[in-house]
Amino acid sequence: MSLAVYKTRADLQAQVAAWKAQGHRVAFVPTMGALHAGHLSLMRLAKEKADKVVVSIFVNPTQFAPHEDFDTYPRDLDGDVKLLSSVGVDAVYAPSEADLYPEGAKSDQEAGAAAAGLESAFRPHFFDGVVTVVYRLFKAVQPDVAVFGEKDFQQLQVIREMVADKGLGIEIIGGPIARDEFGLALSSRNAYLSEGELEIARMLNQVIFNVAQGPSEERLAEAEEMILQAGFDKVDYVAYRPEWKRVLVAAWLGKTRLIDNCSAQ
Ligand code: PAF
Repeated sequence: MSLAVYKTRADLQAQVAAWKAQGHRVAFVPTMGALHAGHLSLMRLAKEKADKVVVSIFVNPTQFAPHEDFDTYPRDLDGDVKLLSSVGVDAVYAPSEADLYPEGAKSDQEAGAAAAGLESAFRPHFFDGVVTVVYRLFKAVQPDVAVFGEKDFQQLQVIREMVADKGLGIEIIGGPIARDEFGLALSSRNAYLSEGELEIARMLNQVIFNVAQGPSEERLAEAEEMILQAGFDKVDYVAYRPEWKRVLVAAWLGKTRLIDNCSAQ
């Protein structure tokens, strides 16, 4: 049986309601498409947690600033659906902008304290856009459990906080970062990298894993220097967050912004 792709919230909700009436537990994995092996590991995790898995594919305009890559963000719905069929996903929600934002695409939710600093210092619009769309997606899908990748570690904390603050009663699970054979965190944006840039990008994880052995101001400063020496053009941040016991980084390679993180001792 081919994988059902729902374009409207009403059609998706009818299917989810039917599953729930049969006593099924529903897991949800929100994505912006351009799926890779990292996403598929989240789908597999979702399958372990529930009877039915819904995946959304929607490149959310409210989390991009006008100068960012919304227009060029990779989109391949047919390819994505094929991949999702291969891992046993039960339904895809691929809404139009009008279905998700009938009154026009703008953020109407505010992210909480977890959004302070790091990404927000460089992308101030970002987390309000993320919580706006995820809240709308949660209302559409009504999942029991939702899975988010740990690669966007601050995003995962922001979502956990939103779910707790709003009392949504959805279990939030973080999926471990999938890496290539050189440790580079898999990302849809890796598709932007040239061969040469890919080699440089593979240094990023080595530098943060090194800092994570014993994070200190000195080591963080050295790490920034090493990232630049490796060939990155700019480091937005390389930081340690003790409350999360994580070292997090965001750096630019040409026009591509890469993020990564790892747990610290
Ligand atoms: O992590 C992502 O891909 C996006 O931020 C999300 C959670 C799908 C919201 O658009």
